[in-house]
Amino acid sequence: MGARGDDQLRAYDLLAPRLVAEYEALDPTAYRATYATLLPRGPDQLALDVGAGSGRDTAWLTTLGFDVMAAEPSRGTREVGEGLHADTGIRRLDDRLPDLDATHALGLSFDVSLLSAVWQHVACRRPPARIPQGVPIYIPKEDIGRLVF
Ligand SMILES: C[S@@+](CC[C@H](N)C(=O)[O-])C[C@H]1O[C@@H](n2cnc3c(N)ncnc32)[C@H](O)[C@@H]1O
Repeated sequence: MGARGDDQLRAYDLLAPRLVAEYEALDPTAYRATYATLLPRGPDQLALDVGAGSGRDTAWLTTLGFDVMAAEPSRGTREVGEGLHADTGIRRLDDRLPDLDATHALGLSFDVSLLSAVWQHVACRRPPARIPQGVPIYIPKEDIGRLVF
């Protein structure tokens, strides 16, 4: 991640309490309903929320039965979010696109990867992530059109 990315993360750190409050004001059960039916269901499903922010959607995924991991590079955002969703069993990771090194180092395979309003932070000239084989990626419509390769 370059200087611009670092600046963006500093901004997320500084504004974490305010931004987290804004993220949490949205009820994911309503606005994620459009694609909830597309998600795989069943026992032992593992989901990854990349750029998870407060963990609002990560927590929502737990209500659908997923074990979840949240990759979020802004320490401030992670910490504020942790306090809000402490009882959900979310595992939080300091990790970022385009490489997701810490996530890959776990050697896990995810049934679902969620990227919500994150692609705009990734400006690179190659595919932005080494996605583990077989992982379906659901890109919410707000992210389409923000891809910069
Ligand atoms: C607009 S917020 C979206 C948060 C959450 N996904 C949501 O929908 O509420 C963007 C998030 O992406 C994170 N982020 C910034 N750069 C990132 C990167 N290179 N890789 C992954 N996440 C990043 C920010 O720290 C922030 O939490």
